[in-house]
Amino acid sequence: MDTFEIDGPVRLSGTIDVAGSKNATLPIMAGALLAGGQTIIENAPNLADIAGFETILQSLGVPTQRSGGNLAIDATKIENPVGEYDLVRKMRASICILGPLLARCGQVKVSMPGGCAIGDRPVDIHLRGLKELGAQIHLENGYIVATVPPGGLRGKQIFLGGPFGSTVLGTDNVMMAACLAKGTTVIESAACEPEVADLANFLNAMGAKIKGIGSPRLTIEGVKELKPIRYKVIGDRIEAGTFMVAAAITGGSLYVRHCSLNDMVAITDRLNHIGVDVEETPDGCFVNRSGPIRPADITTQPYPGFPTDLQAQFMTLLALANGNSVITEKIYPDRFMHVAELNRMGAGLRKEGPSVFIPGTDKLVAAPVMASDLRASAALVLAGMAAHGKTIINRVYHIDRGYEKIEEKLNAVGAKIYRKQI
Ligand code: EPZ
Repeated sequence: MDTFEIDGPVRLSGTIDVAGSKNATLPIMAGALLAGGQTIIENAPNLADIAGFETILQSLGVPTQRSGGNLAIDATKIENPVGEYDLVRKMRASICILGPLLARCGQVKVSMPGGCAIGDRPVDIHLRGLKELGAQIHLENGYIVATVPPGGLRGKQIFLGGPFGSTVLGTDNVMMAACLAKGTTVIESAACEPEVADLANFLNAMGAKIKGIGSPRLTIEGVKELKPIRYKVIGDRIEAGTFMVAAAITGGSLYVRHCSLNDMVAITDRLNHIGVDVEETPDGCFVNRSGPIRPADITTQPYPGFPTDLQAQFMTLLALANGNSVITEKIYPDRFMHVAELNRMGAGLRKEGPSVFIPGTDKLVAAPVMASDLRASAALVLAGMAAHGKTIINRVYHIDRGYEKIEEKLNAVGAKIYRKQI
């Protein structure tokens, strides 16, 4: 298992490139199952989670091939519509093969995804939505077994809201199944994340008829079949946000390239409030901080609210603010694995239910810390770059799941991160 050794404090400056979005690429890889032929995904990031999803597609009998930033998926035939437990348990996102396999093959068996470091990850809304389309679903030895009724799936008006608001992959699953259903489906309380919009645009390019993209109401008119295509995925706004915080927390200045601030308004709103300058450019933004880090209150919400996937990174930044801040986590109330680790570095955080009180301190002190979920691990890298001394991060495989060569990218702009194999 690799570790990172990080010397701090450093000040970052230069240009850093954002990769294609992990959370757009994964459902689009699943969407490729809807078309009999070879789909090419351009700008697909080189990540452990993407490779893991390729393994799942290959286990279905669907060959994949990567060449540079392009990923080819040949779904001409699907021999084995079964998502095996051993593969699915490693990555929650694999649940999004459920909708396309059901629609394309008429039957599917997918292991229930397990929980993970950020908390319980139910799929009840996914199953509710597919049942509304007519799917017959039951659980068998930890597997979801779904079949379409005689006559196939049938479109209808479906409410997909849950106790925490909309569901990203739940919307994806139902939208993909609805593309090949008979008649029209209206999804109310659909997720509006840019990654859901990117999937919808991908499906329309394959011949689907989806309207209301980016809004909480999606209307999908079923079609007979979809065609394989070549499609370029959007930039990763969460990686971009992580790099923007890297500039802010080190008091540096970065040109963050290949991202769209149009998808990041809640993020730039908080950065401006904290005293970070963000200047938009045609293909990204300049980010720098020269003054003090000011305190802020942040509550995570479904898009266009502040994204839960940047909660840990902003907590690290606010740990160095000149006043008290509060972060409330409304999507995953237990998503605080990073709190204890940041406290080992002197952050002085206090958790009260779904909120964390952040007193603000003038410096963090380096320490050995443990990576946990993907975004908490990225937050520890940010902390290590700002802390005084040598920070050791164990289990960095969590970071490799969602960040392509993060240490190479950050070292190229002034970080001192050394990957050690142990
Ligand atoms: C997606 O997960 C992302 N993953 C997550 O990013 C992200 O944190 C999350 O959306 C929220 O934005 C991918 O896109 C691959 P949800 P998803 O269904 O779709 C509850 C990362 O770090 N819920 O939108 O699984 C759920 O428990 C990852 O890149 C139900 O109750 O999340 C949560 O509280 C982590 N029942 C809330 O809804 C359901 O059937 C939102 O979850 C489904 C979800």
